[in-house]
Order: sequence, then structure tokens, then C-alpha cells
Amino acid sequence: MHRFHYVGNTLQCESVDLAAVARLYGTPTYVYSAATVEDNYRRLAGSLGGVDVQLCYALKANASLALLRLLANLGAGFDLVSGGELRRVLAAGAKVDRSVFAGVGKTEAEIRLALESGIFALHAESEPELARINHVAGQLGRKAPVAIRVNPDVDAKTHAKITTGRSENKFGIPLKAAVAAYAMAAKLPHLEIKGVQMHIGSQLTEVGPFVEAVEKIAPLARQLQRDYAISYFSLGGGIGVVYQDALASGGQAWWNALPAERRPLTPEAYGAALTPLLQPLGLKLLLEPGRFMVGNAGVLLSRVEYLKRGQGKNFLILDAGMNDLVRPAVYDAYHEIVPLQRDTSRRALKADIVGPVCESTDCFARDRTLQEVGEGEYVAFMSAGAYGYVMANRYNTRPLPAEVLVHGSSFELVNARETFEQMTIGERVPAWLK
Ligand code: LLP
Repeated sequence: MHRFHYVGNTLQCESVDLAAVARLYGTPTYVYSAATVEDNYRRLAGSLGGVDVQLCYALKANASLALLRLLANLGAGFDLVSGGELRRVLAAGAKVDRSVFAGVGKTEAEIRLALESGIFALHAESEPELARINHVAGQLGRKAPVAIRVNPDVDAKTHAKITTGRSENKFGIPLKAAVAAYAMAAKLPHLEIKGVQMHIGSQLTEVGPFVEAVEKIAPLARQLQRDYAISYFSLGGGIGVVYQDALASGGQAWWNALPAERRPLTPEAYGAALTPLLQPLGLKLLLEPGRFMVGNAGVLLSRVEYLKRGQGKNFLILDAGMNDLVRPAVYDAYHEIVPLQRDTSRRALKADIVGPVCESTDCFARDRTLQEVGEGEYVAFMSAGAYGYVMANRYNTRPLPAEVLVHGSSFELVNARETFEQMTIGERVPAWLK
């Protein structure tokens, strides 16, 4: 569920007219709904009744300082994967004592920063990393809190490029090798074993793979509780969001109309399936959702530049490009595209919806049918809150887009569009060329 809907024929976010945002701040612009993020947080946090849950929002999905602060105010910790992300959490005015540090390639400097900042735990992904964390903690004269990411080798049934829990992926330590890895960690004097971690992939729309992974890891968790008195089990992230019917899925009616077996994964179904497996362990539970928390809470606004009618093919050319929203080009991802001003009297248009970047892959949708729209009108890409802005780049010397946060009937620019000067600030022409 989310707070983007037509009021009359005008697309609104909460009580804000999105066309007004587009006119004021220009396009391409990401717009986020604070109420949707709050709803998502509360729904997931409440879905595992009876279990002690700590939500660690994976800010790789959307690292906007405004959203980080919003989530911190709700009680969230964070799942970070770089020193930069750690500094973002601090810059947002939050602490990292409820946060975990994941990732396969942590540098010594990043480990030091995390320990000095009082991180809740580091999630180690290999034996050499355990040794490195031990080494850095020793230099600092302290013990590093750690958990090991265990790879349960399950099929997450998601896009091959975003699955992580198979043995052929680079992530984690295979389940077979986990006991030995923990034994190694226990011998290192500057480590404190705190938990066990898994993450099997992203955009999961069924609960089955989660159940399978938890069932595989639960016996290990029990053994680690006995041997090392671990206190938590981290389940990772991965709960998917609706892309296909993104706009309609904002309302309860859409969910009610779907037969239960066709309903995409909800936090309630996730909690209902996993609570019976997790509660008996008596461990604290860490969840690291990224996409679920913000995916349906954001849209990308874009302006139509041209409608180019071709022979047998139309092209709707937008001012947003693959640099602003890379998911369609990289993952063949589907994003629903809707007009900000609905007009049911207009004809339907079938077109390839493309950006201005000089690449054939700069195509958001092929042969998509939507209401005919023309130059100067606006459209919104739905479900663009996760892995949207954070993956944007400057290809074709296009500035990073702006970001706006909506709260009820008010909205505010929370990240200004990049300027040319900002894009080129570090560049120099050497004196010998002048
Ligand atoms: N924890 C770990 C260890 C992860 O690797 C990830 C995501 C998450 C949590 C959060 O997963 P989520 O709840 O967002 O599914 N750029 C891709 C998605 C990459 C996900 C990477 N890891 C996309 O646009 O679909």
C-alpha cells in the first residue's frame, strides 16, 4: 500500500499535486512519500508479533538523508555497506549503535570507522575478513562485535542479477563451512561473536525461499547459541514490492480483489510464516529491508520532450534517461509509467518510452500502451523509491536529479538538482595542455 493516487484526474502524493512539484523543481525529480515509508516501517515491525525485532534499513536502496532521519526517528537502525553509508547515517543525525555493517570487501579504514563509531555488529563474509576485523580491533584495543554471513544455498526465485543466496554467489560462507568459520572466529582474541546472518536475494515475491533458508540455518543458530551464546539472527532483506500494478496496489481494494495465492508477499504473510520458526529460538531478530521500506514510497517525475511518430513504431521521448533510473536498462525491470494528468477522453498510445541518452539501452519500456501524452506534459515512474536515485549517474554529463519529500499537504526539496559546477569540481586541465 502507498499514498500515490488520482484525485479526480490529478496524480497526487499524499495531498500534494505532483504536477506542482514538477513545475516548481523541474524534472527529472524523485518524489518520496513520508507517510508511505512510515506505514511500511510500522507494518513490517509489527509483523513478527512475539519476537524481539530490530529493523536495520538497508540504505543502499535509498540513502537520502531526509529518509534516513525519518527512519531513525521511527526507531530504525541501518544496514550499511560502506564508510560512505556510515557517514550518511551520522550526517542524518542518527547513531550506528543499532546498525550493522555488511559487504564482502570492507577496507581496514571502513572497519576502523565502524568500530570507532560504535557499530552494533560487523557482518563478516569470509575468513580473511574475520582476520582483518580482529587485526583492526586489536590496534584499537577493543573487541569487535561480529556475526558471520552464512550462505544457505537456496534459490530465491528472483532475477539472476539480484539473487545472492546460491553457493555460486560471492556472498557469505557456505553453510557446510560455517561451524569451522565460527570456531576460527572464537580463537581470535579481538572478536566477540554476537550473531548469525543470512540474505538470500532481493525482490522476493514468495515466502517459500525465506522459510527454506531459515529452516536450513536454524539448527546452526541453535548450536551457536549453545557454543558462543549468540544473541541474534539476522534474516537480511529481500521482501519484494509491486511493480506491475504499482499504482493500483496503493489501495486496499487491489489487494482484496486478488486471490490469496496470487497476492505478492506482504509483511503479514512473511511474519506469519517465519514467526513459528523463529520464536522458539529465543533470539533477537534483525531484518535488513531496503526495497520494501522505500520502493513503493517513491516516484520519478519526468517531462515529455517529444512524441516521435515513426513507421510502425512511436517513441515517447522523456527528459529522464537511463542515467536517472538504471533499473530497466540493467535488470530489464518493469516500472509502471502513468500521466500526472489523466484524461480518459484521449486515445491510447502505443510507444517505446525512451530517454535522451545516446544508447539503444536507454529504453524504459517497449511497446507500452498508455494515454496519449505530448510535449510538456508530465509522467511518473511508479515504484521508483528503491535503487533509483542511488544508482543514478552522470552519463552524457547529465546532472543527478533532484529529490523532494512529501509530508501530508506539504513538500520540500531535500536534494537539489546537481549543477554543472558540482559535476566538474574535481576536474583539472593539466598546465602542459594549455
Ligand atoms: N542485506 C544485504 C546483505 C543485501 O545485499 C541487500 C541487497 C539487502 C539487505 C537489501 O535487500 P532488499 O530488501 O532491498 O531487497 N539494485 C538491485 C537490488 C540489489 C540488492 C542488493 N542487496 C535492484 O535495483 O533491483
